[in-house]
Amino acid sequence: LPRIAVLASGRGSNLAALLAARERGELPVDFVLVGSDKAAAGALRLAEAANIPTLALDPRGYPDRLAFDLDLFARIAASGAEWLVLAGFMRIIDAAALGPWVGRIINIHPSLLPKYRGLHTHRRALEAGDREHGASVHFVTAELDGGPVIAQARLAIQPGDDELQLAQRLLPLEHRLLPAVLRLLAERRLQWDGHAARFDGRLLSAPLLL
Ligand code: GAR
Repeated sequence: LPRIAVLASGRGSNLAALLAARERGELPVDFVLVGSDKAAAGALRLAEAANIPTLALDPRGYPDRLAFDLDLFARIAASGAEWLVLAGFMRIIDAAALGPWVGRIINIHPSLLPKYRGLHTHRRALEAGDREHGASVHFVTAELDGGPVIAQARLAIQPGDDELQLAQRLLPLEHRLLPAVLRLLAERRLQWDGHAARFDGRLLSAPLLL
């Protein structure tokens, strides 16, 4: 089975969705490591409960970002992971650490990229008066939230929506989107050709709608 590592900084509901999909037999992968920059991350507890090796590294123990990222990625490599999923990992990764992994890392981001890279995506969609919002899964490159988008899930913004409601309505869509994309990767239907994403060998000119 394809070997997958996951990085998460927070509660880990997207990791939970991956684990549930695997339990249902819908995601034939082997999770070899769940890592976090936060020892208290819920994601680590979920991994422990599922008997997946965990790793908590505290960035404060390193002289700079690069030193932390190089150590983190060396440990991910040592886990034997072939692919890496960022599921709510809230750090920018240094390009030098990322380099050898480009094409093998995906991230889920709570906006319809290229809109709203970075933080506070729900608030920014509301403030802009958008009628649609959503989540994207993309290949990670050195450009923050800027790599080729693989797939998106969309939802309509309702009058009166606030940031919290929007985030809550989006989350179940994220929980379908991320396992679906990881499955396509595991089936080798999705690829990175050095510049762009390919699906069944064809250049992805627009994100898949999942
Ligand atoms: C998710 O909404 C994910 O899209 C977002 O963090 C949340 C993690 O929730 N990711 C980012 O903002 C990445 N910049 P979870 O810990 O419950 O999976």
